[in-house]
Amino acid sequence: MRLAVISDTHGNGVAFEAVINDLRQQSPDAVVFLGDLVMRGPQPVECLELLNSLDPLTSIRGNHDNYFSRYSDAADWIPKNDKDAMNLRQFIYNKKLLSADEQHWIGHLPTEYVFKIGDFQAELYHASPNSLGKITWPGATEEELDLLHKEDETQLVLFGHIHHAFTRNAKGRLIVNCGSVGLPFDGDNRASYSIIDIQGKNISTQIRRVSYDIERVIRIAKDRSMPDIEPFEEAVRKAVFTYSFNKSAV
Ligand SMILES: [Fe+2]
Repeated sequence: MRLAVISDTHGNGVAFEAVINDLRQQSPDAVVFLGDLVMRGPQPVECLELLNSLDPLTSIRGNHDNYFSRYSDAADWIPKNDKDAMNLRQFIYNKKLLSADEQHWIGHLPTEYVFKIGDFQAELYHASPNSLGKITWPGATEEELDLLHKEDETQLVLFGHIHHAFTRNAKGRLIVNCGSVGLPFDGDNRASYSIIDIQGKNISTQIRRVSYDIERVIRIAKDRSMPDIEPFEEAVRKAVFTYSFNKSAV
């Protein structure tokens, strides 16, 4: 069984298209999506169409997708700080492009998924069980990594959210973060996703990095007058977190 794991496209359809081209050459049996389809990038509709074209086994809700169920209207959102105000501007931009049905679908995706083949079990989350926003860094302690699953029989945990790809072992369990397709923050500006091969008790993981036309997505953002282009432009070029009013949030 070959599984492709993708996450955090964040409205970057150019990066998503490049990942899909690479992914098709890997011939996965199934694709799973771990959330944050939209927000921060200029192409929410394209990302939704590209996701649908993959017919994923599951699509999980991210903290950015969750805004579409949290706020039925932009007027309901009273920003608490500068970062919140930026997210509200992104929300308004996305709402202009996505239909009401599409917004509802994005905002009501499931928040977890359990994947089973035979005796093998994996748990999938955007950030962690019971939270769409918890941060677990690549250098987390084994105890912190051990909080990323609910069931003892789970052998593999897949999550996204932090935009830093990594593979770790914690208490006999494999923890894989596939990184971000649209907005990596780990210093490598190529799109990131993961291919996982599961054969009986054997498992192998790959983190794949795919180059794409960064200048093209920036041009699309400018052509569409996307708000807050500067932090997006710097983030996609340098693969750094530029939304930093508060380092504790991604
Ligand atoms: Fe994200």
